[in-house]
Amino acid sequence: MRTPFIAGNWKMHKNLVEARELVAALRESSAGVAGVDVLLCPPAYLLFPLAKAVAGTDLMLGAQNVHEAPQGAFTGEHSVAMVADTGATYVIIGHSERRHVFGETNDQLNKKVRAVIAGGLQVIYCVGETLPQREAGKTQAVVDEQIDAVLAADVDAAKLTVAYEPVWAIGTGKTASPEQAQEVHAGIRTRLTGIYGAQAANAVRIQYGGSVKPGNAAALLAEPDIDGALVGGACLVAGDFAAIISAAAETVPAA
Ligand code: PGA
Repeated sequence: MRTPFIAGNWKMHKNLVEARELVAALRESSAGVAGVDVLLCPPAYLLFPLAKAVAGTDLMLGAQNVHEAPQGAFTGEHSVAMVADTGATYVIIGHSERRHVFGETNDQLNKKVRAVIAGGLQVIYCVGETLPQREAGKTQAVVDEQIDAVLAADVDAAKLTVAYEPVWAIGTGKTASPEQAQEVHAGIRTRLTGIYGAQAANAVRIQYGGSVKPGNAAALLAEPDIDGALVGGACLVAGDFAAIISAAAETVPAA
Protein backbone atom coordinates (compact mmCIF):
# COMPACT_ATOMS: atom_id res chain seq x y z
CA MET A 1 0.00 0.00 0.00
CA ARG A 2 1.43 3.34 -1.05
CA THR A 3 0.76 6.17 1.43
CA PRO A 4 -1.29 8.86 -0.33
CA PHE A 5 0.80 11.94 -0.97
CA ILE A 6 -0.78 15.39 -1.37
CA ALA A 7 1.53 18.26 -2.31
CA GLY A 8 0.66 21.93 -2.68
CA ASN A 9 2.59 23.93 -5.26
CA TRP A 10 2.08 27.54 -4.19
CA LYS A 11 3.91 28.86 -7.26
CA MET A 12 4.62 32.61 -6.85
CA HIS A 13 1.84 33.32 -4.35
CA LYS A 14 1.57 34.40 -0.70
CA ASN A 15 3.52 36.86 1.37
CA LEU A 16 4.80 35.99 4.84
CA VAL A 17 1.64 37.00 6.69
CA GLU A 18 -0.62 35.12 4.28
CA ALA A 19 1.66 32.09 4.35
CA ARG A 20 1.59 31.91 8.13
CA GLU A 21 -2.20 32.18 8.10
CA LEU A 22 -2.50 29.37 5.56
CA VAL A 23 -0.18 27.10 7.53
CA ALA A 24 -2.00 27.85 10.78
CA ALA A 25 -5.31 26.91 9.16
CA LEU A 26 -3.82 23.71 7.73
CA ARG A 27 -2.30 22.78 11.08
CA GLU A 28 -5.75 22.93 12.54
CA SER A 29 -7.59 21.12 9.76
CA SER A 30 -4.99 18.38 9.28
CA ALA A 31 -4.51 17.69 12.99
CA GLY A 32 -6.94 14.76 12.99
CA VAL A 33 -6.00 13.39 9.57
CA ALA A 34 -3.82 10.28 9.56
CA GLY A 35 -2.28 8.17 6.85
CA VAL A 36 -1.60 10.91 4.29
CA ASP A 37 1.73 12.60 3.57
CA VAL A 38 1.26 16.34 3.09
CA LEU A 39 3.86 18.62 1.52
CA LEU A 40 3.81 22.41 1.13
CA CYS A 41 5.98 23.98 -1.58
CA PRO A 42 5.93 27.75 -1.02
CA PRO A 43 8.18 30.29 -2.73
CA ALA A 44 11.75 29.61 -1.61
CA TYR A 45 12.03 32.74 0.53
CA LEU A 46 9.26 31.40 2.79
CA LEU A 47 10.94 28.06 3.54
CA PHE A 48 12.85 29.31 6.58
CA PRO A 49 9.95 31.02 8.37
CA LEU A 50 7.54 28.22 7.50
CA ALA A 51 9.92 25.62 8.93
CA LYS A 52 9.06 27.18 12.27
CA ALA A 53 5.37 27.31 11.45
CA VAL A 54 5.19 23.56 10.68
CA ALA A 55 7.43 22.48 13.58
CA GLY A 56 5.77 19.80 15.69
CA THR A 57 3.40 18.75 12.89
CA ASP A 58 3.68 16.15 10.14
CA LEU A 59 3.49 18.84 7.44
CA MET A 60 6.55 18.73 5.21
CA LEU A 61 8.17 21.51 3.18
CA GLY A 62 9.65 21.50 -0.30
CA ALA A 63 11.07 23.87 -2.91
CA GLN A 64 9.62 24.38 -6.39
CA ASN A 65 12.94 24.36 -8.19
CA VAL A 66 16.65 24.22 -7.58
CA HIS A 67 19.87 24.84 -9.48
CA GLU A 68 21.92 21.76 -10.27
CA ALA A 69 25.29 23.26 -9.29
CA PRO A 70 26.43 23.19 -5.65
CA GLN A 71 27.34 26.91 -5.72
CA GLY A 72 28.58 29.56 -8.09
CA ALA A 73 27.79 32.62 -10.16
CA PHE A 74 24.12 31.82 -10.85
CA THR A 75 22.26 35.01 -10.06
CA GLY A 76 18.78 34.42 -8.73
CA GLU A 77 19.20 30.69 -8.13
CA HIS A 78 19.47 28.50 -5.04
CA SER A 79 21.28 25.20 -4.53
CA VAL A 80 20.11 21.89 -3.07
CA ALA A 81 22.19 22.50 0.07
CA MET A 82 20.49 25.87 0.54
CA VAL A 83 17.08 24.23 0.35
CA ALA A 84 18.21 21.52 2.76
CA ASP A 85 19.46 24.22 5.15
CA THR A 86 15.91 25.46 5.61
CA GLY A 87 14.73 22.04 6.78
CA ALA A 88 12.82 21.37 3.55
CA THR A 89 12.96 17.76 2.40
CA TYR A 90 11.57 17.82 -1.16
CA VAL A 91 12.14 19.61 -4.44
CA ILE A 92 9.72 19.71 -7.38
CA ILE A 93 11.69 19.23 -10.60
CA GLY A 94 10.48 19.67 -14.15
CA HIS A 95 7.17 21.38 -13.52
CA SER A 96 5.66 22.30 -16.88
CA GLU A 97 6.11 26.01 -16.11
CA ARG A 98 9.83 25.35 -15.64
CA ARG A 99 9.90 23.44 -18.92
CA HIS A 100 7.74 25.77 -20.99
CA VAL A 101 8.17 29.23 -19.43
CA PHE A 102 11.82 28.90 -18.38
CA GLY A 103 12.94 26.54 -21.14
CA GLU A 104 14.32 23.77 -18.97
CA THR A 105 15.35 20.73 -20.98
CA ASN A 106 15.31 17.05 -20.13
CA ASP A 107 19.09 17.18 -20.04
CA GLN A 108 19.08 19.92 -17.41
CA LEU A 109 16.33 18.19 -15.45
CA ASN A 110 18.40 15.02 -15.38
CA LYS A 111 21.18 17.01 -13.66
CA LYS A 112 18.73 18.62 -11.25
CA VAL A 113 17.15 15.31 -10.22
CA ARG A 114 20.58 13.82 -9.60
CA ALA A 115 21.71 16.88 -7.64
CA VAL A 116 18.64 16.77 -5.40
CA ILE A 117 19.07 13.10 -4.57
CA ALA A 118 22.83 13.45 -4.10
CA GLY A 119 22.05 16.27 -1.68
CA GLY A 120 19.89 13.97 0.44
CA LEU A 121 16.50 15.37 -0.55
CA GLN A 122 13.54 13.78 -2.30
CA VAL A 123 12.26 14.62 -5.77
CA ILE A 124 8.85 15.12 -7.28
CA TYR A 125 9.60 14.76 -10.98
CA CYS A 126 6.86 16.19 -13.23
CA VAL A 127 5.94 14.89 -16.65
CA GLY A 128 3.05 15.62 -18.98
CA GLU A 129 1.96 16.32 -22.52
CA THR A 130 0.64 19.47 -24.18
CA LEU A 131 -2.78 19.57 -25.83
CA PRO A 132 -1.41 19.21 -29.39
CA GLN A 133 0.64 16.22 -28.25
CA ARG A 134 -2.44 14.59 -26.71
CA GLU A 135 -4.52 15.30 -29.79
CA ALA A 136 -1.81 13.74 -31.95
CA GLY A 137 -2.00 10.57 -29.83
CA LYS A 138 1.50 11.12 -28.48
CA THR A 139 0.75 11.32 -24.75
CA GLN A 140 2.49 8.12 -23.66
CA ALA A 141 5.41 8.65 -26.03
CA VAL A 142 6.04 12.15 -24.63
CA VAL A 143 5.79 10.98 -21.04
CA ASP A 144 8.04 7.98 -21.72
CA GLU A 145 10.64 10.24 -23.27
CA GLN A 146 10.53 12.58 -20.25
CA ILE A 147 11.03 9.58 -17.98
CA ASP A 148 13.77 7.91 -20.01
CA ALA A 149 15.78 11.12 -20.34
CA VAL A 150 15.85 11.78 -16.63
CA LEU A 151 15.33 8.58 -14.65
CA ALA A 152 17.67 5.60 -14.65
CA ALA A 153 18.54 2.63 -12.48
CA ASP A 154 21.13 4.72 -10.62
CA VAL A 155 18.60 7.43 -9.73
CA ASP A 156 17.29 6.15 -6.39
CA ALA A 157 13.63 5.15 -6.79
CA ALA A 158 13.16 5.33 -3.03
CA LYS A 159 13.73 9.10 -3.23
CA LEU A 160 11.39 9.59 -6.15
CA THR A 161 7.78 10.64 -6.68
CA VAL A 162 6.51 11.16 -10.22
CA ALA A 163 3.78 13.73 -10.93
CA TYR A 164 1.73 13.34 -14.08
CA GLU A 165 0.53 16.81 -15.01
CA PRO A 166 -1.06 17.18 -18.44
CA VAL A 167 -0.08 20.71 -19.46
CA TRP A 168 -3.56 21.39 -20.84
CA ALA A 169 -5.08 20.74 -17.40
CA ILE A 170 -2.83 23.05 -15.37
CA GLY A 171 -4.58 26.16 -14.14
CA THR A 172 -7.21 25.80 -16.86
CA GLY A 173 -10.04 24.22 -14.89
CA LYS A 174 -9.87 21.26 -17.29
CA THR A 175 -9.03 18.03 -15.52
CA ALA A 176 -8.05 14.74 -17.04
CA SER A 177 -10.87 12.30 -16.34
CA PRO A 178 -9.98 9.66 -13.75
CA GLU A 179 -9.83 7.10 -16.57
CA GLN A 180 -7.57 9.28 -18.74
CA ALA A 181 -5.25 9.92 -15.82
CA GLN A 182 -5.20 6.27 -14.70
CA GLU A 183 -4.25 5.15 -18.20
CA VAL A 184 -1.19 7.41 -18.21
CA HIS A 185 -0.30 6.57 -14.59
CA ALA A 186 -0.36 2.86 -15.44
CA GLY A 187 1.86 3.60 -18.44
CA ILE A 188 4.28 5.49 -16.20
CA ARG A 189 4.42 2.57 -13.77
CA THR A 190 5.15 0.20 -16.63
CA ARG A 191 8.00 2.47 -17.73
CA LEU A 192 9.33 2.65 -14.16
CA THR A 193 9.13 -1.15 -13.98
CA GLY A 194 11.38 -1.31 -17.04
CA ILE A 195 13.95 0.86 -15.25
CA TYR A 196 13.71 -0.31 -11.65
CA GLY A 197 11.95 -3.68 -11.68
CA ALA A 198 8.46 -4.36 -10.40
CA GLN A 199 9.09 -4.17 -6.68
CA ALA A 200 10.74 -0.74 -6.67
CA ALA A 201 8.36 0.62 -9.34
CA ASN A 202 5.35 -0.47 -7.32
CA ALA A 203 6.60 1.51 -4.37
CA VAL A 204 6.98 4.79 -6.31
CA ARG A 205 4.11 7.19 -5.76
CA ILE A 206 2.61 8.79 -8.84
CA GLN A 207 0.68 12.01 -8.24
CA TYR A 208 -1.84 13.53 -10.60
CA GLY A 209 -1.78 17.30 -11.09
CA GLY A 210 -3.90 19.69 -13.14
CA SER A 211 -6.95 21.47 -11.72
CA VAL A 212 -7.36 19.09 -8.78
CA LYS A 213 -10.18 20.47 -6.63
CA PRO A 214 -12.26 19.24 -3.68
CA GLY A 215 -14.98 18.21 -6.16
CA ASN A 216 -12.83 15.91 -8.33
CA ALA A 217 -10.14 14.70 -5.91
CA ALA A 218 -11.97 11.64 -4.58
CA ALA A 219 -12.68 10.21 -8.04
CA LEU A 220 -9.09 10.74 -9.19
CA LEU A 221 -7.61 9.29 -5.99
CA ALA A 222 -9.83 6.22 -6.24
CA GLU A 223 -7.89 5.05 -9.30
CA PRO A 224 -5.37 2.29 -8.51
CA ASP A 225 -2.26 4.09 -9.83
CA ILE A 226 -3.16 7.61 -8.67
CA ASP A 227 -1.34 7.84 -5.36
CA GLY A 228 -1.80 11.50 -4.61
CA ALA A 229 -2.09 14.95 -6.08
CA LEU A 230 0.13 17.89 -6.92
CA VAL A 231 -2.24 20.79 -6.34
CA GLY A 232 -1.78 24.33 -7.63
CA GLY A 233 -4.66 26.81 -7.35
CA ALA A 234 -6.68 24.87 -4.77
CA CYS A 235 -3.75 24.62 -2.35
CA LEU A 236 -3.85 28.37 -1.78
CA VAL A 237 -7.23 28.12 -0.04
CA ALA A 238 -6.96 26.29 3.28
CA GLY A 239 -10.44 24.77 3.15
CA ASP A 240 -9.97 23.46 -0.39
CA PHE A 241 -6.56 21.95 0.31
CA ALA A 242 -7.86 20.41 3.54
CA ALA A 243 -10.78 18.86 1.63
CA ILE A 244 -8.34 17.28 -0.87
CA ILE A 245 -6.25 15.91 2.01
CA SER A 246 -9.44 14.46 3.56
CA ALA A 247 -10.38 12.86 0.24
CA ALA A 248 -6.96 11.18 0.23
CA ALA A 249 -7.41 10.04 3.85
CA GLU A 250 -10.64 8.34 2.87
CA THR A 251 -8.79 6.08 0.43
CA VAL A 252 -6.73 4.63 3.29
CA PRO A 253 -8.17 1.32 4.52
CA ALA A 254 -9.07 1.34 8.21
CA ALA A 255 -6.32 -0.26 10.29
P1 PGA B 1 -3.46 23.69 -10.85
O1 PGA B 1 -1.85 23.55 -10.91
O2 PGA B 1 -3.92 22.76 -9.74
O3 PGA B 1 -3.70 25.12 -10.54
O4 PGA B 1 -3.98 23.26 -12.18
C1 PGA B 1 -1.23 22.31 -10.76
C2 PGA B 1 0.26 22.48 -10.87
O5 PGA B 1 0.70 23.33 -11.67
O6 PGA B 1 1.04 21.78 -10.20
